Amino acid sequence: MFDELDGDDRLWAAVVARDPSADGAFYCCVRTTKVYCRPSCAGRPLRKNLFFVRTRAEAERSGMRACKRCRPDRLIRGALCERISAVDWPGVEAKLDDLGFARLGRLLSDVECERLAALYGAGGEFRSTVTMARHGFGAGEYKYFADPMPELVETLRTDLYARVAPIASVWRRRLGEDRPYPQAHADYRALCASAGQNRPTPLLLSYGPGDYNRLHQDLYGSETFPIQIAILLSAPGKDFDGGEFILTEQRPRMQARAHVVPLEQGDAVAFAVNDRPVEGAKGPYRAKMRHGVATLRSGRRMTLGVIFHDAP
Ligand SMILES: [Fe+2]
Ligand SMILES: [Zn+2]
Repeated sequence: MFDELDGDDRLWAAVVARDPSADGAFYCCVRTTKVYCRPSCAGRPLRKNLFFVRTRAEAERSGMRACKRCRPDRLIRGALCERISAVDWPGVEAKLDDLGFARLGRLLSDVECERLAALYGAGGEFRSTVTMARHGFGAGEYKYFADPMPELVETLRTDLYARVAPIASVWRRRLGEDRPYPQAHADYRALCASAGQNRPTPLLLSYGPGDYNRLHQDLYGSETFPIQIAILLSAPGKDFDGGEFILTEQRPRMQARAHVVPLEQGDAVAFAVNDRPVEGAKGPYRAKMRHGVATLRSGRRMTLGVIFHDAP
């Protein structure tokens, strides 16, 4: 549709017409304000201040922030596998290495989030329900999906695995074990099964007022994949208040450091499950990561957790 970017009058024509059908085909970067927009943005930049890029990742790598008016970062376009491909994976790897977590941006539409969250009450999709207070995990409830999982969850698990497995293999090597993770999730599941872990671990979590999740690590057996992904299915400020996603990092002989990760509905975050390598003066050492959820003040907060290792 738009083969040549800069110098293409059709791109500028789409911007002038505020053509919504051009949204997602390219993005407009405004040199003067360092903001990038959808072509349909109501803002009126001068042509001489604009340059065009194909993807959000390119815009962000050029130092641009998403426009607060047209929210190009909230745009959902294409099948789930295409959205996963469009994530800035080199940027994700750099952030995971730096802080132990990385926001992936929005992967699911509001409708997809609502459909997934609605499965929670339906019941038939799950292998078990955990009441968190009963185990001292916090307050709230979660359910593990049974095989076969809903297609959306299966796609997320297999496609996201393929993206994070190379990062996990580098971490493992830096921590002294030269044994890469399989490239395909099916092969990794076979490896989990041979360790006696053959029950799926993707889950839906449901928190109501006063609920919370204590800082923890999702370890189930000897086989652990070091990165996991969570997707917020509810809208903060609308469906619920409070309930922030929290991560802590514990380095040897240091006090813990905390991160609060801002997420909107449909946004995904990748984070370290347990140990991650940190570069020290005498080579890499292990930093211990934990994650949890702050107390919900009101409403209902639903999340999808995608853990890549299976459980016994
Ligand atoms: Fe967890
Ligand atoms: Zn805009």
